[in-house]
Amino acid sequence: MTVVTDSIVADMSLAPNGHLKIDWVREHMPVLNRIRERFEKEKPFAGLKVAICLHLEAKTAYLGKVIQAGGAEVTMTGSNPLSTQDDVCAALVEDGIRVFAKYNPSPEEYKSHLIKTLETRPDLIIDDGGDLITILHSERQDLISQVRGGAEETTTGILRLKALEKEAKLNFPMVAVNDAFCKYLFDNRYGTGQSVWDGIDRTTNLVVAGKTVVVAGYGWCGKGVALRAKGLGAKVIVTEIDAIKAVEAYMDGFEVMSMEEAAKHGDYFVTVTGNRDIIRKEHYEVMKDGAILSNAGHFDVEINKVDLNAMSKSVRTVRKDIEEFVLNDGRKVYLLAEGRLVNLAAGDGHPAEIMDMTFALQAVGLEYVSKNYEQIGKKVLNVPYELDAMVAQYKLEALGIKIDTLTPEQKAYLESWVEH
Ligand code: ADE
Repeated sequence: MTVVTDSIVADMSLAPNGHLKIDWVREHMPVLNRIRERFEKEKPFAGLKVAICLHLEAKTAYLGKVIQAGGAEVTMTGSNPLSTQDDVCAALVEDGIRVFAKYNPSPEEYKSHLIKTLETRPDLIIDDGGDLITILHSERQDLISQVRGGAEETTTGILRLKALEKEAKLNFPMVAVNDAFCKYLFDNRYGTGQSVWDGIDRTTNLVVAGKTVVVAGYGWCGKGVALRAKGLGAKVIVTEIDAIKAVEAYMDGFEVMSMEEAAKHGDYFVTVTGNRDIIRKEHYEVMKDGAILSNAGHFDVEINKVDLNAMSKSVRTVRKDIEEFVLNDGRKVYLLAEGRLVNLAAGDGHPAEIMDMTFALQAVGLEYVSKNYEQIGKKVLNVPYELDAMVAQYKLEALGIKIDTLTPEQKAYLESWVEH
């Protein structure tokens, strides 16, 4: 394998550890392995360049290798400055994938890595949060013409894509991987539920049982975070802006109230809304001494850091990924991972068996767009149901689980409006 030499990574000597990490996750990603075997034979991406902007940790690296096995020339960059793992990046470069990414770059460096990735003039794009697509449709339209299409990982990115589509500015088809059943039912709910608490627990090393956890947002990710907080023994409060989701949270057994009220009760806060300023000045004013704040949404805008800094007389790092803010009245508030998504900035992201399905959808979704981009047109589309169902079937087979099939009589019964 030739090493791609124009990569930008922190330290190539870290590669052996990166290889170990990638080997470990590969053993736990049977669905993606099955797709890789087919890609190796069929080479669906032969002659194409693929740009991938994702949280650059081991599972993502393995997706890059699967796309490469499908014949693509792959370039990867990070979708968050704190989620990139330098050892994984070094291993990828050794495996012939071009990488522009390092842990904790300056904002300028981070942006330059995105731009360098686009300057490879990709035919296909995998995005997470919509940064590559936004740059292509705004400041670097000169790099857009050869792009066939792509796939987007997150709720946040899909919102941005739909805004582009609504203004009739989207230049190519994008598959909304987030909206596939095999994504949000498992990744958003069980993946986020587990990885957020893994990130918080390994960072704080404190007990959750008996404490009050405030979860802001009861989408699929919020549901998972609240469910696992309950499992850890916490009293859980949910805040929402959507009446239906609020009723759902109530019926699921959680207390539901406004953030104004919840702010007084929380020991832990986790924001999972995709929106800005969820926790802000008026909330810090009433918080308990020692409250721990974390975010699991894509961007670091959910916990307002400008307000927090303005209200604090001192700030210091008290433990890796924990900043202590001493407010002007002496109360302390702790912020994890700079308010960036805690499961990836202070952890390894979702479990491998979960990302197995998500990244299988990315791989087959990208293949679908690559083959059908002309017929699809310039729009945001869902992963076709057959591909979603195929990923679930592969997962069942990997788990050794057999399910029932309809008898001919049952099928006829379901399809008839007479025979009931
Ligand atoms: N690992 C890679 N991408 C991830 C994501 N979007 N969420 C959680 N873990 C991940």
